[in-house]
Amino acid sequence: MLFAKIHLILFLAQIFLITSAQLKMSSNLLTESEKSQLPWESRTTKFGFQGLNNVFENPNETIDDLESIIRQAIGVYLNKFINESNTFISDWPRDNKLSGWYNRCIKNGHHTSHIHSRGWLSGVMYLKTIAPSESNEGAIEFGLHGYDLPISNNDYPKIINKPRAGDIVLFPSSLFHRTIPFTSDSERITIAFDLVKT
Ligand SMILES: [Fe+2]
Repeated sequence: MLFAKIHLILFLAQIFLITSAQLKMSSNLLTESEKSQLPWESRTTKFGFQGLNNVFENPNETIDDLESIIRQAIGVYLNKFINESNTFISDWPRDNKLSGWYNRCIKNGHHTSHIHSRGWLSGVMYLKTIAPSESNEGAIEFGLHGYDLPISNNDYPKIINKPRAGDIVLFPSSLFHRTIPFTSDSERITIAFDLVKT
Protein backbone atom coordinates (compact mmCIF):
# COMPACT_ATOMS: atom_id res chain seq x y z
CA MET A 1 0.00 0.00 0.00
CA LEU A 2 2.77 2.42 0.92
CA PHE A 3 4.52 1.63 -2.36
CA ALA A 4 1.32 2.43 -4.27
CA LYS A 5 1.04 5.76 -2.49
CA ILE A 6 4.65 6.62 -3.31
CA HIS A 7 4.00 5.94 -6.96
CA LEU A 8 0.85 8.02 -6.86
CA ILE A 9 2.86 11.00 -5.59
CA LEU A 10 5.37 10.63 -8.40
CA PHE A 11 2.60 10.12 -10.94
CA LEU A 12 1.23 13.49 -9.91
CA ALA A 13 4.25 15.16 -11.52
CA GLN A 14 2.91 16.08 -14.96
CA ILE A 15 4.61 17.34 -18.07
CA PHE A 16 2.76 19.71 -20.42
CA LEU A 17 4.68 19.45 -23.64
CA ILE A 18 5.49 22.45 -25.70
CA THR A 19 2.70 24.12 -27.69
CA SER A 20 3.01 27.06 -30.07
CA ALA A 21 1.45 29.35 -27.42
CA GLN A 22 3.90 28.12 -24.81
CA LEU A 23 6.85 28.53 -27.18
CA LYS A 24 5.88 32.14 -27.93
CA MET A 25 5.38 32.74 -24.22
CA SER A 26 8.76 31.28 -23.30
CA SER A 27 10.45 33.53 -25.86
CA ASN A 28 8.68 36.64 -24.45
CA LEU A 29 9.55 35.65 -20.89
CA LEU A 30 13.18 35.17 -21.82
CA THR A 31 13.25 38.82 -22.83
CA GLU A 32 11.47 39.76 -19.58
CA SER A 33 13.94 37.76 -17.50
CA GLU A 34 16.86 39.73 -18.90
CA LYS A 35 15.45 42.87 -17.22
CA SER A 36 15.50 41.23 -13.77
CA GLN A 37 18.33 41.48 -11.29
CA LEU A 38 18.73 37.99 -9.86
CA PRO A 39 20.85 37.27 -6.76
CA TRP A 40 23.72 34.79 -7.15
CA GLU A 41 23.24 31.38 -5.53
CA SER A 42 20.21 32.25 -3.43
CA ARG A 43 18.26 29.48 -1.72
CA THR A 44 18.79 26.11 -3.45
CA THR A 45 20.64 27.41 -6.50
CA LYS A 46 24.28 26.51 -7.16
CA PHE A 47 26.25 28.12 -10.00
CA GLY A 48 23.33 30.27 -10.90
CA PHE A 49 20.97 33.11 -10.10
CA GLN A 50 17.51 32.93 -8.54
CA GLY A 51 15.00 35.74 -8.27
CA LEU A 52 13.40 36.61 -4.95
CA ASN A 53 10.49 38.67 -6.21
CA ASN A 54 7.05 37.47 -7.18
CA VAL A 55 6.78 38.34 -10.86
CA PHE A 56 2.98 38.17 -10.67
CA GLU A 57 2.95 41.23 -8.40
CA ASN A 58 4.20 43.40 -11.27
CA PRO A 59 2.03 42.24 -14.14
CA ASN A 60 2.26 43.29 -17.76
CA GLU A 61 0.83 41.74 -20.91
CA THR A 62 3.39 38.92 -20.96
CA ILE A 63 2.91 38.06 -17.28
CA ASP A 64 -0.89 38.16 -17.70
CA ASP A 65 -0.57 35.73 -20.62
CA LEU A 66 1.71 33.53 -18.53
CA GLU A 67 -0.82 33.39 -15.69
CA SER A 68 -3.53 32.46 -18.18
CA ILE A 69 -1.45 29.59 -19.64
CA ILE A 70 -0.45 28.32 -16.19
CA ARG A 71 -4.04 28.40 -14.92
CA GLN A 72 -5.22 26.49 -18.01
CA ALA A 73 -2.57 23.85 -17.32
CA ILE A 74 -3.58 23.69 -13.65
CA GLY A 75 -7.20 23.16 -14.72
CA VAL A 76 -6.19 20.22 -16.90
CA TYR A 77 -4.03 18.86 -14.09
CA LEU A 78 -6.80 19.07 -11.51
CA ASN A 79 -9.34 17.47 -13.86
CA LYS A 80 -6.98 14.57 -14.46
CA PHE A 81 -6.68 13.74 -10.76
CA ILE A 82 -10.06 14.93 -9.50
CA ASN A 83 -11.19 11.39 -8.61
CA GLU A 84 -8.08 10.51 -6.61
CA SER A 85 -8.78 10.00 -2.91
CA ASN A 86 -6.08 12.01 -1.18
CA THR A 87 -6.11 15.29 0.71
CA PHE A 88 -3.86 16.93 -1.86
CA ILE A 89 -6.79 16.81 -4.29
CA SER A 90 -9.77 16.84 -1.89
CA ASP A 91 -8.48 19.91 0.03
CA TRP A 92 -7.42 21.80 -3.10
CA PRO A 93 -7.36 25.55 -2.26
CA ARG A 94 -10.14 27.23 -4.24
CA ASP A 95 -8.86 30.64 -3.09
CA ASN A 96 -5.34 30.92 -4.35
CA LYS A 97 -2.72 33.07 -6.04
CA LEU A 98 0.41 32.47 -8.08
CA SER A 99 3.91 33.34 -6.93
CA GLY A 100 6.73 33.10 -9.47
CA TRP A 101 10.44 33.81 -9.91
CA TYR A 102 13.15 33.45 -12.55
CA ASN A 103 16.09 31.06 -12.35
CA ARG A 104 19.23 31.24 -14.47
CA CYS A 105 21.93 28.61 -14.19
CA ILE A 106 25.30 28.66 -15.95
CA LYS A 107 27.95 25.96 -16.40
CA ASN A 108 27.79 23.45 -13.50
CA GLY A 109 24.51 25.06 -12.43
CA HIS A 110 21.81 23.16 -10.60
CA HIS A 111 19.20 23.28 -7.85
CA THR A 112 19.71 20.98 -4.89
CA SER A 113 16.84 18.74 -3.81
CA HIS A 114 14.06 20.70 -2.14
CA ILE A 115 10.34 21.22 -1.73
CA HIS A 116 8.31 24.45 -1.89
CA SER A 117 6.97 24.82 1.63
CA ARG A 118 4.67 27.76 0.84
CA GLY A 119 2.97 26.20 -2.17
CA TRP A 120 0.21 23.67 -2.82
CA LEU A 121 1.05 22.94 -6.41
CA SER A 122 4.36 24.02 -7.96
CA GLY A 123 5.62 24.22 -11.48
CA VAL A 124 8.31 25.25 -13.88
CA MET A 125 8.16 26.74 -17.36
CA TYR A 126 11.32 26.28 -19.38
CA LEU A 127 12.55 29.35 -21.21
CA LYS A 128 15.99 28.15 -22.30
CA THR A 129 17.34 24.64 -21.97
CA ILE A 130 20.70 23.10 -22.70
CA ALA A 131 21.22 21.08 -25.87
CA PRO A 132 19.80 17.56 -25.65
CA SER A 133 22.35 14.84 -24.96
CA GLU A 134 22.60 11.20 -24.01
CA SER A 135 23.10 12.16 -20.37
CA ASN A 136 20.52 13.64 -18.01
CA GLU A 137 22.42 16.90 -17.62
CA GLY A 138 19.99 19.78 -17.16
CA ALA A 139 17.08 17.45 -16.43
CA ILE A 140 14.70 17.76 -13.47
CA GLU A 141 14.44 14.81 -11.11
CA PHE A 142 11.46 14.15 -8.85
CA GLY A 143 11.89 11.83 -5.90
CA LEU A 144 11.25 11.21 -2.25
CA HIS A 145 14.55 12.26 -0.76
CA GLY A 146 15.95 15.71 -0.18
CA TYR A 147 17.69 18.22 2.09
CA ASP A 148 19.86 16.38 4.61
CA LEU A 149 17.23 13.91 5.72
CA PRO A 150 18.57 10.43 6.49
CA ILE A 151 18.30 7.92 3.66
CA SER A 152 16.48 4.77 4.75
CA ASN A 153 16.07 3.28 1.28
CA ASN A 154 18.54 3.69 -1.56
CA ASP A 155 15.89 2.60 -4.03
CA TYR A 156 13.67 5.64 -3.72
CA PRO A 157 11.48 5.82 -6.80
CA LYS A 158 12.15 8.82 -9.00
CA ILE A 159 11.15 10.40 -12.28
CA ILE A 160 13.59 12.25 -14.54
CA ASN A 161 12.39 14.62 -17.23
CA LYS A 162 14.55 16.25 -19.89
CA PRO A 163 12.74 19.51 -20.66
CA ARG A 164 12.52 21.50 -23.85
CA ALA A 165 11.99 25.25 -24.07
CA GLY A 166 8.26 25.92 -23.73
CA ASP A 167 7.48 22.81 -21.64
CA ILE A 168 5.58 23.28 -18.38
CA VAL A 169 5.92 20.84 -15.49
CA LEU A 170 3.44 20.72 -12.59
CA PHE A 171 3.91 18.76 -9.38
CA PRO A 172 2.80 18.75 -5.72
CA SER A 173 4.80 21.38 -3.78
CA SER A 174 5.65 18.71 -1.19
CA LEU A 175 7.41 16.53 -3.79
CA PHE A 176 11.20 16.72 -3.63
CA HIS A 177 12.90 17.78 -6.84
CA ARG A 178 16.34 18.79 -8.00
CA THR A 179 18.10 19.54 -11.24
CA ILE A 180 21.06 17.63 -12.57
CA PRO A 181 24.19 19.78 -13.11
CA PHE A 182 25.22 20.43 -16.69
CA THR A 183 28.84 20.78 -17.75
CA SER A 184 28.42 22.59 -21.06
CA ASP A 185 29.19 26.28 -21.30
CA SER A 186 25.56 27.29 -21.70
CA GLU A 187 22.53 28.65 -19.84
CA ARG A 188 19.39 27.08 -18.42
CA ILE A 189 16.66 29.65 -17.74
CA THR A 190 13.28 28.90 -16.17
CA ILE A 191 10.41 30.57 -14.38
CA ALA A 192 9.29 28.60 -11.33
CA PHE A 193 5.97 29.17 -9.62
CA ASP A 194 3.76 28.10 -6.75
CA LEU A 195 0.00 28.00 -6.45
CA VAL A 196 -0.42 29.39 -2.93
CA LYS A 197 -3.49 29.12 -0.69
CA THR A 198 -4.88 32.56 0.24
FE1 LIG B 1 11.85 24.02 -6.93
